[in-house]
Amino acid sequence: MSDQSSEQTLSNLGHEDRRFEPPEDLARDANVKEEAYERAAKDRLAFWEEAAERLTWGKRWDTVLDWDDPPFAKWYVGGTLNAAYNCIDRHVEAGTGDRVAIHWVGEPEDDRRTITYADLKDEVSKAANALIELGVGKGDPVAIYLPMIPETVISMLACARIGAVHTVVFGGFSSDALVTRINELDARVVITSDGGYRRGAPSALKPAVDEAMAKCPDVRTVLVVRRTGQDVDWNDDRDRWWHDVVDGQSTEHEPEQFDSEHPLYVMYTSGSTGKPKGILHTTGGYLAQSAWSHWAVFDLKPETDVYWCSADIGWVTGHSYIVYGPLANGATSVMYEGTPDTPHKGRWWEIIQEFKVSLFYTAPTAIRTCMKWGKEIPAEFDLSSLRILGSVGEPINPEAYIWYRENIGGNRTPVVDTWWQTETGAMMISPLPGVTAGKPGSAMRALPGISALVVDEQGEEVPDGSGGYLVLTEPWPAMLRTLWGDDERFKDTYWSRYPGWYFAGDGAKKDEDGDLWLLGRVDDVMNVSGHRLSTTEIESALISHPKVAESAVVGATDDTTGQAVVAFVILREEAGDGGQEIVEELRTHVAKEIGKIARPRQIMVVPELPKTRSGKIMRRLLRDVAENRDMGDVTTLTDSTVMDKIKTGMSGSKTDDE
Ligand code: PRX
Repeated sequence: MSDQSSEQTLSNLGHEDRRFEPPEDLARDANVKEEAYERAAKDRLAFWEEAAERLTWGKRWDTVLDWDDPPFAKWYVGGTLNAAYNCIDRHVEAGTGDRVAIHWVGEPEDDRRTITYADLKDEVSKAANALIELGVGKGDPVAIYLPMIPETVISMLACARIGAVHTVVFGGFSSDALVTRINELDARVVITSDGGYRRGAPSALKPAVDEAMAKCPDVRTVLVVRRTGQDVDWNDDRDRWWHDVVDGQSTEHEPEQFDSEHPLYVMYTSGSTGKPKGILHTTGGYLAQSAWSHWAVFDLKPETDVYWCSADIGWVTGHSYIVYGPLANGATSVMYEGTPDTPHKGRWWEIIQEFKVSLFYTAPTAIRTCMKWGKEIPAEFDLSSLRILGSVGEPINPEAYIWYRENIGGNRTPVVDTWWQTETGAMMISPLPGVTAGKPGSAMRALPGISALVVDEQGEEVPDGSGGYLVLTEPWPAMLRTLWGDDERFKDTYWSRYPGWYFAGDGAKKDEDGDLWLLGRVDDVMNVSGHRLSTTEIESALISHPKVAESAVVGATDDTTGQAVVAFVILREEAGDGGQEIVEELRTHVAKEIGKIARPRQIMVVPELPKTRSGKIMRRLLRDVAENRDMGDVTTLTDSTVMDKIKTGMSGSKTDDE
C-alpha cells in the first residue's frame, strides 16, 4: 500500500465489533431480498436487464452489454430513451402527477416551494423550449453554476430532455475552475443566478461568472435566475434573465428518444494530477443503475417515503441521488438550500420533523460536526419518521456510525454506508438494509451485479483479514465511459494498473467474515469533508503565486473533516521569511484559483522539502509533521537532516476553515 492510504485513525471506541441485523419488518417487506445476490451472481447481465426494465424505453435494447473493446463499454446497445421523460412524464402519465417531487426549503425560514411531478413537467418543458430558443441542441454542452434551488434540477432535466450535455460546476468553485470547464467542453450557454442564501445572508454567484467570461469568449448567453434580488453587473449582449426567457415559454415539449449511449453529463473531479478529469456519463446505463440502486439501497416506497439527500447538486451524489435516481423512481424528496446551522444548529432535524423524512443520506463529516454540537440538539426534534440512514463520501468511523444510528436513527434504523465514486456513477458497495447486517465502519459487500475484489500489488485476491487495493473486475451500467476528450488518460488512470480491471484508487480490507472496509485513497487525492481534492492541483495553485518557489500538500487527518489540507511552501528569496501575512495571502490565492474548499487549513513556510534520491517529495514525512507524529524511517531521504531543518525552520499558521 502506498503511503497515502490511511488506517481509520478517528476514535473508534471498540464499536467496530458491533453488528446490527436488519429490523424484521424491513427484512420482510424489502424491495430487494437475499436472492438478488444469487440471481445476479448466476447471470449478471440478466440481472442488469431486469434493472433497466424499471425504466421506460423508446426502443428496447438489442444487446445488454458490448464489451468488445475494453475499457470502452456500451450498455443497452440499440436502446433509446429520454432521461427527463423517465424522471417526470412517465409518472404524470401513470397518474401520479400530483405527487410532490420536491419539497424545496430555502435557507431563510418560511421560504418553501412545493413542486409536484406535474409542475416539474411544466417547468422542465418551458426550460427546454427556452434552451432551444437560445440555440442549444442535441449534444451541445451547457454549464450550470447554481445554488441549491429548484432551477438547478430544472436546468439539468431541461438539458437531458433535449439531449444537451450538462456540466454542473459546484457553486463553491472559483471563476478559474469555471473557465477551465467551460472552455474544455466548449460550452456556449451558462446558467447561473444572482446568488443564493448561505449562513443567513445572500451570497453572490454572478460575479464569478462575469469574471470567467473575460476568458470564455465563445459563451454567447448567460441565463441568470433571480434568487436573492441582489444587484448584479449586466452585459446586455450576453446576459438574459431566466424569468424573461423561460417564464413565457410553452409547457408543451415532446421529448425525443436518444440512444442509450448518448452523453448525459460531464462531471469534473480531481485526480492525482493537477488537471481535473471530465467524467463522462451516458444515458441508459447511468439511469438504470442510479435508479435501481436508489430503490434498492434506500428500500424506497415512493408512495409513502420522504427522502432527503443533503449533498450539493454540484457533486455526483447530487446528480445520482437528488436528481436522476430519486426522480426516475417517482420519489418525494426534500431539497434544502442552506447550511445545517442556519439559523440554528437543529435546522436539519427541524426539516426532517416538518416533512416526516423517512430516508436520509448524508456524509460522515456532517455527522461528526453534529456530534461536536451535541446530541441534545437532535433530541429536541421528532425524528421518529426516519427508517433508513445513509452515509457517503468518505470512510465513516465507527464512532460516527454509532452516534448517527443512536441519536438520529433512534437505534432503530439501519445505516447504509455506500461506497462509490464520481466515476462509478452509482453506488457499488453497500449493505441492503433488509438483507445485510450492518457493522459500524464497514460498507459490507458489493451490491448485486457488481464485482469487487481486494487485491495485492500483483493482483492476487487477498485473504479474509487482510488489506489491499480495491478493484472492480466487471463493467457496470453506470460506469464512466471515458474522460472527456482523453481516452488515453482514461485507460492509463483506471485500467492500466491491473489490465482489464478498474482500479478505484482506494485501499480496502476484508475482515474475517469477508466484509469490506474502505480505508481511503491510495493516491494523491485527498478527501476533505467528503470533497475530493488533488494534492497536485493545490500545489500548482500555490506555485502559480509569484512568492512561492516550491510547495507540497498533504491531507492530514482531521477529527471533523476526515482530512484537512496542509501545505508546506518554500518562498522565493525576495518574499522574505514568511509570517502570517503571506500565509493568509497564499490561502486566499488558493481559494481564488480553485475554490474555498481547497484553501489550506494550515500553511507552513519551510526552508526545504524532504525528497527521495530520485527527487520525489516524501509526503508521508510531511503528513507526520502535519499530524505531529514521530517520523519513523527517514533513511531514503537525500539529506536525513532535512526534517530537523524543516521542524526548526518552520513558520506558519493554523487557521480554522470557516
Ligand atoms: O475514497 C473514496 C471516497 O470518495 C472517493 C470518491 O469521491 P467522489 O468521486 O467525489 O465521490 C464521492 C461520492 C460518491 C472514493 O474513491 N468514498 C466515497 N464513499 C465512500 C468513500 N470512502 C469510504 N467509504 C465510503 N462510503
